[in-house]
Amino acid sequence: MNSSKKIKIGIFDSGLGGLTVFKSLANTYRNNTSFIYLGDLAHLPYGDKSQESIIKYSQRIVDFFIKKKVDIIIVACNSASSVALNQIKCDVPIIGTIQPSVQSVIKSNNSKLIGIIGTDTTINSKAYNRAFEDYNNYTIYSVSCPLFVPIVEEGWENTDIAHQIAAKYLNQFQSINLDTIILACTHYPMLLDTLKSVFKKLGHHNLYFIDSGKAITQYLSSKLSLSPDQAPADILHLNDKFYITDTSYQFNKLANRFLGTDIPNIELITL
Ligand code: DGL
Repeated sequence: MNSSKKIKIGIFDSGLGGLTVFKSLANTYRNNTSFIYLGDLAHLPYGDKSQESIIKYSQRIVDFFIKKKVDIIIVACNSASSVALNQIKCDVPIIGTIQPSVQSVIKSNNSKLIGIIGTDTTINSKAYNRAFEDYNNYTIYSVSCPLFVPIVEEGWENTDIAHQIAAKYLNQFQSINLDTIILACTHYPMLLDTLKSVFKKLGHHNLYFIDSGKAITQYLSSKLSLSPDQAPADILHLNDKFYITDTSYQFNKLANRFLGTDIPNIELITL
C-alpha cells in the first residue's frame, strides 16, 4: 500500500461498540488514515440475531464501504466476526476481531487460563475456541453476557445496575484461576472499570485484559506496515464520516462522551 496516501478505513459495528476500535486506531495512526464508521442501529444488537441475518447485514455494509472506496474494512464486532466474516464477499482486505485478539494473547506469553466474555452469538459460535485450537496449552472458559450491550448503549456502564449484572455473570469465573480476560465484544471496553472492580471482588487481582481495539491496532501495524504517529493528533478529522442506519439521540450523546469530542455530523442512511 502506498505510504504517502492516507489509508481509508471502513469500520462497522451494530452500534457504539466499534468506536472503541475507532478510538484506538485513530489515537495511533491518525496522520496516515481517514475513517468511515457505520453503526448499524437498525439491527442492534447483533448478539442475539441468527447467523443468516448477521451475514446479510454485514454484506450490505461491506458493499456500502466498497462503493465509498475504502482500502480496508474492519469488522469491529465480535458477533459478526464470529459468524459472518468468512462468508462475506469483499475485494478489499477485511479484518475481524478474533485473529488479532488471539495473536495478542499468544504474544503476551504468560497467558494460559483464558476467560472469554461476549454476546450469545460470539460465545455460542465457539469461534475463539477454534482459533485457539491451533495453539497448545490454552484452557478457555467462556461466559456470555447478553445484557452488557444494552447497558452500554443506555450509558449505564458505571451504575449499580451494571455492577450487579456484571457480578451475576462473572461469578461463574469465581473458582477458576484465570490470568487473562478477552473482552470479546467491542462494547465491553466501555465497561472496563466496572468489570475490573467486580473481578477484584471475586478475588481476581492481576488479570490481563485483551480488547479488540488495541489488538486490531497492533495487528494492523504488521499487516499494513503502518507506523504509529510521531506526534499526537486530534482524534477526528474533517474528512471522517460517521453513519447510522436508524435514529438514536443516545448514539450522538454517548459517542461524543466516549470520544471526548463532538462528532459534527452523523448521517442517517438506509442500506
Ligand atoms: N459490539 C458487538 C460485538 O463485538 C456487537 C454487540 C451486539 O450488537 O450484540 O459483538
